[in-house]
Order: sequence, then structure tokens, then C-alpha cells
Amino acid sequence: MITFNKQNNIFHLYNNDISYVLMILKNKEIGKLYFGERIENDNLEYLYKEFNSEPSITPSFEGINKGFCLDTLLREYPDFGTGDFRDPAFDLEYENTKSIVEYEYVGHEIIKGYKEITGMPHIKVDKSQTLLIYLEDKLINSKITLKYTIFDEYPAVIRNAEIEGKNIKLNKLSSFNMDFLDSNYELIQLNGHWARECNYTRNEITKGIHKIDSKRGTSSAVANPFIALTRKNTDFDNGEAIGFNLLYSGNFSINVERSPFDLLRVNIGINDFYFSKNLDSKFETPEVLIVYSNKGINKMSQVFHDIYRNYLLAKKENYVLLNNWEGTYFDFNEEIILNMIDSANSLGIDLFVLDDGWFGKRDDDFRSLGDWYIHSEKLPNGLTKIIERCKQYNMKFGLWFEPEMANKDSDLYRKHNDYIIQTAGRKDHPSRNQHTLDFSRIEVVENIYDQMIKILDKYEIDYIKWDMNRCITGIDNKEKYHLYIKNLYYLLEKLKNRYKNILFEGCASGGNRFDAGMLYYTPQIWTSDNTDAIDRLDIQFGTSLAYPVTSQGSHVSVTPNHQTGRMTSLEIRRNVAMLGTFGYELNPLNLNEDEKEKIRKDIKIYKKYAKTINYGDLYRIIHDQNETAYSVVNKEKSEALLFYYKRVIKIGTGLKTLKIKGLKENFKYKVSRINLNREEEKIGIFYGSFLDKFGIYREARFSGQRDEENRYYSDYDTDLYVIEEI
Ligand code: DGJ
Repeated sequence: MITFNKQNNIFHLYNNDISYVLMILKNKEIGKLYFGERIENDNLEYLYKEFNSEPSITPSFEGINKGFCLDTLLREYPDFGTGDFRDPAFDLEYENTKSIVEYEYVGHEIIKGYKEITGMPHIKVDKSQTLLIYLEDKLINSKITLKYTIFDEYPAVIRNAEIEGKNIKLNKLSSFNMDFLDSNYELIQLNGHWARECNYTRNEITKGIHKIDSKRGTSSAVANPFIALTRKNTDFDNGEAIGFNLLYSGNFSINVERSPFDLLRVNIGINDFYFSKNLDSKFETPEVLIVYSNKGINKMSQVFHDIYRNYLLAKKENYVLLNNWEGTYFDFNEEIILNMIDSANSLGIDLFVLDDGWFGKRDDDFRSLGDWYIHSEKLPNGLTKIIERCKQYNMKFGLWFEPEMANKDSDLYRKHNDYIIQTAGRKDHPSRNQHTLDFSRIEVVENIYDQMIKILDKYEIDYIKWDMNRCITGIDNKEKYHLYIKNLYYLLEKLKNRYKNILFEGCASGGNRFDAGMLYYTPQIWTSDNTDAIDRLDIQFGTSLAYPVTSQGSHVSVTPNHQTGRMTSLEIRRNVAMLGTFGYELNPLNLNEDEKEKIRKDIKIYKKYAKTINYGDLYRIIHDQNETAYSVVNKEKSEALLFYYKRVIKIGTGLKTLKIKGLKENFKYKVSRINLNREEEKIGIFYGSFLDKFGIYREARFSGQRDEENRYYSDYDTDLYVIEEI
């Protein structure tokens, strides 16, 4: 519901769970009065409070009482230069000089449903209401629209902004700004690098500005465009947690500022560093999804997951795939691939993915990116025989592309050496021997589209892995980074419209572009190039904060692991990959009979529970340096899985239990453990409330004895339990 009270100029956006209260302030800008748990639509004007007098060195506002100081107010879309010394939400120059603006409220509209952004990812939620607040600066003849969509059924709001005008140079335009009355929050962020993406970091917010950003051309593995604010005592199941996630795949910035008055400001949007836009008419920012939870981090994540699954991700099947990358790298030919497909079929694989190396003369990573035609020496029959073999088994077939790149050793570069991003007269900065195509130029994008559709029209392709393996350098025009992303979205949209049945998986050296913007086009993304089960525990934990299990590409690979050299059991590799899209990335021809038999059974186990895993509610139970555990409960609360992982064995740690949340209190459940033979071993029958309050014992096998049974359970231990209503 959205209401506007003409008497006190207050907007109240609310549903059963949350309230968001805004006010047209005395200077006619929009102020924030409240965001949090639902409050009554009563006495709302009490929320607005001013100082009695002007705090020293804090300017007030001409024509308004002295206590009205912008620096001490909660402002919805703050400018700079008028008395608020915090970071502004926007910054512009009119006719190349004037930057002091006064955007004032001129009207608003309340509409049913959402208002779509064109050419950009967006959350398609019809069960909602949208408030559009129109602001205008008459002196420079420019308008700003602030958009707020509140969900009917989730404690969440989508925000963005749009500006209209002429002769305006934009230096910054945040998607939104939110000020808070107190700063007693902690900041959760997801940082990292290649192969260690989405590290969960939680810190106190001290005075000053904390900036989390990317200047890499992708949203990046270094900083995900997600943060959460939590109270000190917030844990997985209790306390306040407010999550913010930007739907954008390029350079972004998140500013969290604790002011001298201990107010907190969060503004998020396209990175204003190396950004500029000459406005000829309108410019609309990407959307931000804001989720409020008063039941801890788990509830916050569950809401993100529900919203993304219901309103962002394209509907898809949960195919168990086999990808040949770690199995063969570039070293394959038709015969090897056909044999791999035969073997994949015998294991129960649904989708075979041919990764890098099938095109041009791609025998290594020095050549051929940009040449999207068959490598005829490796694959003399094109993809025909390979696809026929897949179809014979009723298996789907997928293909790898890296559309945004070229190697200098490619026909594309030989013909169009101006297509790559490069500054004339300056040194080059290759990365993995490759160069970024200048996607800010539409003719470059169209060339790649034409090449791709030749393959996609000719062959029956069910899945595309869309890779992007470098950060962008050499851009010498501040408008290009954003144009690049807009055209990337354009190309993805065009391909998706033409091939409605193709499932797209995103990838950027793993998670170098794992964001909600890409998820709109590619409903699953390869979470990390690191397939080591132990490292993945941290990577997937962090990623799961905002992004659902069903979006996280996760595969079982061989040991010693190719990235870390670590030896781990097939069980822990399975249990980690199951909290993702679940697939295999190895050469099945190298598996022994015992491994094959186990994998066959594991795929059956996954398929049996895939619906619960992909569409259930995820509960974190523990995640510390040594142990991680989750449960995932289906929406009907009739089935749940409990995953437990331990990094290193510690002797004599005592008996501990794992509590299973989210079940029906007064219903009975059978709990079983999946043993090494992949059989369900009954543990007992319990009420939902018992499992919630006491839980089940973790297996007591860490006694220091090294007998045959316990030998298996050493470091990197794991358990998988099934909980079924009876
Ligand atoms: C990087 C990806 O993340 C890998 O999975 C693989 O597709 C390689 N690129 C291929 O070059």
C-alpha cells in the first residue's frame, strides 16, 4: 500500500512487514522519516524532528527556521553545495559550469505494479505498487524522478532514479540514497579476487566514508555489488539485517558514510569514478533491491532468493551437466568428446557442455577469440555428430562462447583491428593474451551477434556458457564503461529473444561478474573457477547471501583439485556441489568403476531432492573457520535436507547438535543420514519443534581412533541428512 497525506505531506509505503515513510520537506525536497518494521499509519508527523537552533558550523536554509539544516536531515536524494557535507546522491554541471541545484517536489503518481526500465535488467513484480516522485529544478529546466516499488508480499522495496534535461553533464547519478538516524550498524560486504570470490566480511562502521567499488568494467570478484547493514547482535536467525543489491554488471560504487552527527548514509549506483554522461534527454539508473529483515541474516537472504527466483531469473530446468573444461582443457577432438558423452550418459548426466576450444584455431589461449566458427581440424564434422550423439541419449547439448573478447591472432582482429579497446599511441595491456572488444560500439556487437547466430541457427544448442575472462583497461572516454554494459545487455536480450529455449549460464573467470544484472539474462552463473570443495564452502556461503542456490554454478571435479591440489572425498565434493546447480567437471573416461557407481547414485540423490534444494528456504546453521552447516526446507515444509561440513578433524570436541529451522512444529519427521553406500539410514522420528529446539546430534566419530570405519572421516568430513514428514 502507498498512501499520501496532503495535510502533513507524508507518504507511507507499507505492507504487512515493513513501513517506509517519506515527507515533502520545507524546502520541497524529499526527506526520509522511517524505514523498518511496519508501524501504524498514525502520528507519522512525529517522526519528523529538527534541532531547536542551528548547530554551529552547519548552515541552515534561507527562508526556513534555523533548525532546518540539510547536514542533519535524513534526505532521500541529496545534492551537494547547499549545506549537506556528506556524499551526495548526484552531481551535475549545467552548461558546463553551474552545479548548485534546487530540485523541488512538483508532483507524484501512485501506480499499480512496477514500472519497467528499458534496456536494463529489472525485477518484474506485478504484485506491488509504485510511487513516482517528480522533482524539478526550474532554473536549469531539469526533472528527476524517484521511483519506489513496494512488494505486496515481501519486506522489500526497489528503487532507482531518472533524470531529464539538456545541456547537462552528469558526473554522478546514484540509483538511490538512504539516510539512517543512527549508525550503530555493522557492514557486511562480499569481497575477494579470482578463485576466492564473495568472502563474507563484517565490520563495525566507523566515522567517515567506506567505499566499496569496482573500476574493472565488470561488477567484479573483488567487490560484489551487495552489502548488508546488521546490528551488533544480529545472527543468522535474530536481529535486524538490511540488504542492498544493485542490478548492474559494470563499475559500481557503494558509499557507506557515518557522519559527525552519527547519521548513516548509504548510496549505491554506477561508479562516479571515471563516469560521465552528456545528457540529451533522459538517463535512468539501474535498480537497487532493498530487503528488510527483523529475523536475522537467514530471513534477509530468503527474501532475496524468493524475489530473484520469482521475479528476476528466467524459468529453467535443473539439468545435471558435465562440462569438459577441467576434463580436457583444449586437448580434445571429436572422438574424445563422443566417448565422454557415452560415458556421461551412463552416469545419468542431462546436459553435456563443450567448453573453450571448439572454434577458430583455438588450441591454446593465445588465439581465435572472435572467430566463432568450427575448429575443423578438431571437429571435422562440425558439431553434427556430437549433437546427434547427445540427442540419441536424450541429453541436452551446450556450448561455450566468450563473445566480448578477441585475440590479436584471430581473423576478426586481422580484419577489424580497431574493434578492440585500445588507445592509439599507448601501450597495450593484454590479459590472458586477450583484448576486450569495444562493445560501446554497436557495429562491434552486431558483428559478434551475426557470427553467433550462424552457429546457433545451424545447430540445436540448448545451453550457452557466456564467459568473459579479463578486466577492462584502455577505455579513454568516460561514457564508454556504461555504454559497454548497455550494449552487452542489448546483445543478451536479442539472443534470448531469438532463442527462447536456450539456457544461458554466465561466467567471468568464475565470479568476476556474479550480479543480479547478469542473472536477469543468465539465470545461473559459474560461481568460481575454484572447484575445490573446501574453498567453495566460503565462496558459496558469501554468494548465497543475496543469490539463490539455483543461480550458483557448482561442479564436482577430480582430486587432487586442479586449483588447490587438495584431496577430498567424493562425498564432500557432492555435498558442496549440491548447494549449487550441481554438475560435474572432469573426464568421465578417467573414472574407475567404484567412482562411476557412486556418481550414478549421487546424481539420483540430487535429482530426488533437486526441487527442495533449488526452490526451498536456505537456513545457515553454522559457518566458522572449521565448520559449516545449512538446512534447506521446501516451501510445503514437508521435506528438508541438512548439509554438514567440517574442514579439519579436532579430537575431543564433544557432542554437538544441529538445529533444523523452518519445519512445522507439530508435525512428525523421519530423519535419515545418507551413508557411504548412498543408502538412507534412519536416525529417528522427531517433531518439527524438537528438531528446531534441540536438533540432531552430529555424528560422534571424532574420537581419535583410526579404525577402518573412521579412517574415511578424517579432515574434510561431511554429512548429508534427509528429513521427511511422515
Ligand atoms: C574461464 C572459465 O571460468 C572456465 O570455466 C573455462 O570456461 C575457461 N574460462 C575457458 O577458457
